[in-house]
Amino acid sequence: MSKPFYITTPLYYVNAKPHIGHAYTNIVCDTFARFHRFLGEEVRFMTGTDEHGTKIDRAAKDQGKDAKVYVDEMVPLFQSLWNLLGIQYDYFIRTTDDNHHQILQNIFKTLEAKGDIYRGKYKGWYCTPCESFWTETQLAEGKCPDCHRDVQQLAEDNYFFRLSKYQSWLVGYLRDSPRFVWPETRRNEILSFLERPLEDLCITRPRARLTWGIAYPSSPEHVVYVWFDALVNYVSGVAYSKDMKQFSRFWPADLHVVGKDILRQHAIYWPIMLKAIDVEMPRTVLAHGWWTIEGSKVSKSRGNVVDPFEIVKRYGADAFRYYLLHEARLGLDGSYSEDLLVERLNSDLADDLGNLVLRATSMLERYFSGRIPDATSSATPLRGKLASMTDLVKNAMLGFQPYAALDAIWEVVREANRFVEQNKPWVLAKENKKEELGNFLVGLLETVRLLGLVLTSFLPSTAEKILSSLGINGRPSIQDMQWGSLKAGVRVEKGVPLFPKVE
Ligand code: MSP
Repeated sequence: MSKPFYITTPLYYVNAKPHIGHAYTNIVCDTFARFHRFLGEEVRFMTGTDEHGTKIDRAAKDQGKDAKVYVDEMVPLFQSLWNLLGIQYDYFIRTTDDNHHQILQNIFKTLEAKGDIYRGKYKGWYCTPCESFWTETQLAEGKCPDCHRDVQQLAEDNYFFRLSKYQSWLVGYLRDSPRFVWPETRRNEILSFLERPLEDLCITRPRARLTWGIAYPSSPEHVVYVWFDALVNYVSGVAYSKDMKQFSRFWPADLHVVGKDILRQHAIYWPIMLKAIDVEMPRTVLAHGWWTIEGSKVSKSRGNVVDPFEIVKRYGADAFRYYLLHEARLGLDGSYSEDLLVERLNSDLADDLGNLVLRATSMLERYFSGRIPDATSSATPLRGKLASMTDLVKNAMLGFQPYAALDAIWEVVREANRFVEQNKPWVLAKENKKEELGNFLVGLLETVRLLGLVLTSFLPSTAEKILSSLGINGRPSIQDMQWGSLKAGVRVEKGVPLFPKVE
């Protein structure tokens, strides 16, 4: 049996409510996870929360709360959003989990025994909002090169991980592994970043400055740097060093999905950490772009957040999913517009898909009392279109292009609506051409069934409504995408509008 498909999201910082950027990463991952289940694979989809470090400590203090009390209150907020958005994860990991701590400690033991960690003096400039250290030359006019805010000078005793020792190995690995970082342009960016010497990574913070972190095992005066802590989740979530049988069942991860802002950590630190502990590389690190508003990244610190809870309340989870998956090419930035979301909802979802399903089921109700008639012929031009759609969708998804998969699906949705206009079933009914009308409707309902199946990865709750109105329950599979399995005599529920239009 082949290995389960193991897919991960980044762990979200819990210093604020989740926003559209977080929702996007999880929707993308959920769509891939569902698609691999649809292909019949076993899937391990893990998401979770990043709960240590200065940001979180500060957010807790701002509210006058103990850090652990604060994170315990924040985590359910993330979980409730994932629920609302139909994110079907298999495991939720928190960096405050005991298991994660123990595994992190085991990893330190290995690294120390290998001599890959040493104690030294750290001097540099620190940007607190970004949690980043910068060297003098990296600063942009004395400010943080990422967010352009003030930085503080620091000099302190810390522990360092020998990234530099593995630099030439990593360069070779990236050159030889074209699919390790996707898209290609990002891989090239990482390679050109690696043309300069890598500095070793400072992996602790003095407890005097930060107490909210995992204890560094060899020194009571230090806690672990939040990035080193968080990256380990990808292996601690599958029991690395604790239950190697479980670990080797899932590892290597097939897909780490991350935003482009955190690619360096995932394409430089993470592979080096794995190499140092002698663990196989994940197959692909996929970097998606940002959602922007008027050219600026949507982010808490810029104060331009889009509240996904509100959007779902107004338009429903599937409309939000559709918009995010369809409107930006994975890997590139997308410019967020609520007006455009509404436009897509009214046209693609309500006029095209909703209308098709409603028409098909209402006509069956009207002309055949809601029961699928016996078809005497299955010749319809839609059949071939659906077969090629299935291939297009599969290729698009395996090539990380969910928007192209949706385009292929909507080609068929629109074609099916045209098919109704051209065949004028109401005329067939008037002329009492029952057989022709029956054949026509069976073809149309088959199309609706196959669309319902293929949509399960993208618009899960809509797909479920479509399928259950046709009396189809259970785990949908690509194997069911064969033309012709609707049974004569089955009672089909008359549809309700799937997407009420928004003014
Ligand atoms: N905690 C780290 C990740 C550790 S993974 C071992 C972190 N967390 S985060 O909450 O700040 O961001 C998580 C993800 O949300 C990142 O992939 C980031 O790219 C994504 N997004 C945050 N804002 C975004 C947009 N405006 N648009 C799209 N995604 C962006 O980084």
